[in-house]
Amino acid sequence: MTSLLPYPPELRAPGTTDAPFRPTIPVRDLPPGAMRRVSFGDLDVLLAHTSLGLAAVDDRCPHMAAPLSIGGLDGCVVACPLHSGRFDLGTGDPVQMPTTGGLWPDGAYEPVWCPPDREPRPDPPGVKTEARKLTRVRRFRYYPLRVVDGVIEVGVPG
Ligand code: FES
Repeated sequence: MTSLLPYPPELRAPGTTDAPFRPTIPVRDLPPGAMRRVSFGDLDVLLAHTSLGLAAVDDRCPHMAAPLSIGGLDGCVVACPLHSGRFDLGTGDPVQMPTTGGLWPDGAYEPVWCPPDREPRPDPPGVKTEARKLTRVRRFRYYPLRVVDGVIEVGVPG
């Protein structure tokens, strides 16, 4: 039997408490280490078979919304294809800040990444730099999930 990843209850996606479960893909099509995007209207959900079990979160990076489904999965940590941010599906927390820098979920500022042996290069002043500095990495939002007759079902708001 495939296990389901336990996630922090406070990170459950809004509107999913009484949401109906909808079928997605056969569980055999999501082997350990695999990720897939499934869509419900304009809602894109990432299904991930992590080392702690199956998880369903928004298929939008908590940084700037890139699709995580085409990134990488290592154990429980998903890597974003856009700015190298890495996020722990077991906790919902970022484990590596995106290379663009910005704000951690608690509001702490992280500068733009640069190689350890180089002086940080100052960003040119302007609204793009300000936007980068004010971009806060969020935590995941989780969708309830179950497996019925070998099919993964996800609870999404109607
Ligand atoms: S969009 Fe994912 S790290 Fe920037």
